[in-house]
Amino acid sequence: MTDTPLPLIIDCDPGIDDAVMLMMAFLSPHLDVQAITTVAGNVPLAFTSRNARMICERMNRTNIPVHAGCPRPMVRKMVTAEDFHGESGIAGMDVFEPEVPLAPGHAVDVLIEKLSAPPEGGYTVILSGPMTNLAAALIMAPQIAQGIRELVVMGGADTAGGNITPSAEFNIYADPLAAAIVFDAGLPTVVLALDATHQVRAEQVRVDRIRALPGRHAELMADLLDAANRLELRWRPGMQVPMHDPSTVGWVLAPHLFETKRCRVSVVTRPGKDFGRTKVKDSARGPHRWVTVADADGFFALVEDLLKAPA
Ligand code: RIB
Ligand code: CA
Repeated sequence: MTDTPLPLIIDCDPGIDDAVMLMMAFLSPHLDVQAITTVAGNVPLAFTSRNARMICERMNRTNIPVHAGCPRPMVRKMVTAEDFHGESGIAGMDVFEPEVPLAPGHAVDVLIEKLSAPPEGGYTVILSGPMTNLAAALIMAPQIAQGIRELVVMGGADTAGGNITPSAEFNIYADPLAAAIVFDAGLPTVVLALDATHQVRAEQVRVDRIRALPGRHAELMADLLDAANRLELRWRPGMQVPMHDPSTVGWVLAPHLFETKRCRVSVVTRPGKDFGRTKVKDSARGPHRWVTVADADGFFALVEDLLKAPA
């Protein structure tokens, strides 16, 4: 990491794990979160947009604008994931109406505006939900690709298999056409798919270590992870919840915790049993990097360090 905080835009669908990801990003002095854009995904847009603002408020980061984006995917019927995030989309946290309203400007317009006039070196952009907003922005203004230093995506599955169908992961399945537009744009992209995130699970001993840390942030993160585990274990008994979206911030802050392979990712968009599946073609010159190995102990040590840092 350089001394200058990294300019970051986060597009998300909070979502319990999106919320934990946002907390990590806000706690790091090395990241400069310049905007949050929200999309329909785990829960409808009104809830993802409220939940993002709730986290900003709880973390005293109401200076960060939250812009609502697309309320539905391209073409396909909207699917949501309340089973794993609660009806509110943020089980584990008492819902309140944030004081700070949504920032003016549709997320797609804001992505175009910011990525068309990036800081020196460009933006790092994290996508932790369906890719509808960035896909729309790329269609409307392809030149914004020049403003992206690195795209970090939570989505997809290869050897791990799917989590919403046997072959598809939720973020891709929820809007396969958008994912295809983003991957086909050939942007320098790091993909944290289930192959990686299933290696980083919120085992109870790890959550208990977080809860034992002083301060409200540690308590909130432990509450969120305990709630996520209750829901995960209810629907998928046996394994604790993977740290899907938080792994994206883990990559940005500590890439040494991960191993990747160069490839080109494509998406199955035709109806059928493979609808929404990501296909990974190894390619030494490919624009994408598929994360193959993740150091879970190192990741949780990072999370604890972030929570211990002076607020
Ligand atoms: O498949 C996991 C992904 O889907 C995560 O981003 C989670 O928040 C849900 O959006
Ligand atoms: Ca998400």
